[in-house]
Amino acid sequence: MTAAESEILRDVWYMALPGRELKRGKMQGKMLLGQSIVLGRDADGKPFALRDICPHRGIPLSHGKFDGREIECCYHGWRFQCDGGCTHIPSLLPTQKFELSRVGVFQFPCREVQGNIWVFMPEDERTLPDPLPEIPVIPYVEAEHCQMVMKSLFPCSIDHAVVGLMDPAHGPFVHQSWWWRSQKSIHEKSKAFAPSHWGFTMVKHKPSSNSKAYKLIGGEVSTEIRFELPSTRIEHITAGKHHICGVTTLTPLTATQVELHQFFYWTIPWLSLIRPLMRPFMKTFIEQDRDVVDKQQQGLNEDPQLIMINDADKPARWYYQLKKELQQSRLENRPFQNPVPETTLQWRS
Ligand code: FES
Ligand SMILES: [Fe+2]
Repeated sequence: MTAAESEILRDVWYMALPGRELKRGKMQGKMLLGQSIVLGRDADGKPFALRDICPHRGIPLSHGKFDGREIECCYHGWRFQCDGGCTHIPSLLPTQKFELSRVGVFQFPCREVQGNIWVFMPEDERTLPDPLPEIPVIPYVEAEHCQMVMKSLFPCSIDHAVVGLMDPAHGPFVHQSWWWRSQKSIHEKSKAFAPSHWGFTMVKHKPSSNSKAYKLIGGEVSTEIRFELPSTRIEHITAGKHHICGVTTLTPLTATQVELHQFFYWTIPWLSLIRPLMRPFMKTFIEQDRDVVDKQQQGLNEDPQLIMINDADKPARWYYQLKKELQQSRLENRPFQNPVPETTLQWRS
């Protein structure tokens, strides 16, 4: 892997927080890509993100007070609007001329989409791309369809987290359990893939396993899985006129810590009845992934040479290629050319 490939992608959006975790008139500090950020929601309900460092003496603004309009720093009371502009410095006498517009805190672009708060992490804060790229849209659902949110902290780099997320071969080994599958259930798979926007899609197909569970839902069932740079996976299940979407977002908090959010959206009212039953299963599933990543770190700490094979490691290879192409196309100031071919991958899992 080249140095560029191991870098965390910038000039892209990262999912920062499920919207429901940020109440109106409240703020909270959070690390994103190694930077301290304060996320807040103003009195009108609009979210914002600022650098969480007071320009006076550097204390995090998130330790201060927020009244839904302005943040007051806890050290000397300087006040900042939600756009980062300074409005008041209490220690100044009326006769002391000081241009408040000289003081400001960087405001990160921040948007709430389908119930989730995304923050744009720029490469260079002085020049943001115009227009900003798009935030991946979850098909056929609205914010109110979000029925379940789970989170987990993975002790690894974003690259290994994404590779693990898109890895088709670990299922029978990592996710063994009586309710899901055993090693013996390994069978040959063949799936069609196509390039899509900043990623690739396992094109719509009938699910092979769990057909009993799907029969319960009723109607013709099909599933499609899309990956999108920097680190979003959207699984969309269509069941007759209904939709179920499982969305996984990976957010690098630092170079060695990735926060995973797993969202479930659905439009089937009765499915909400079994939500309490689903939760522990999903939790176990995510913990199995986290535990294996944890063990993997023991080996990765020695920076070994790693092997990728056909076809099971193709998605991993595509991820690195996509990332490289995004960086390269920006450097060369040309349109992004998706390196993923239309193809069929075959593996056993
Ligand atoms: S450190 Fe924030 S006002 Fe002084
Ligand atoms: Fe997994």
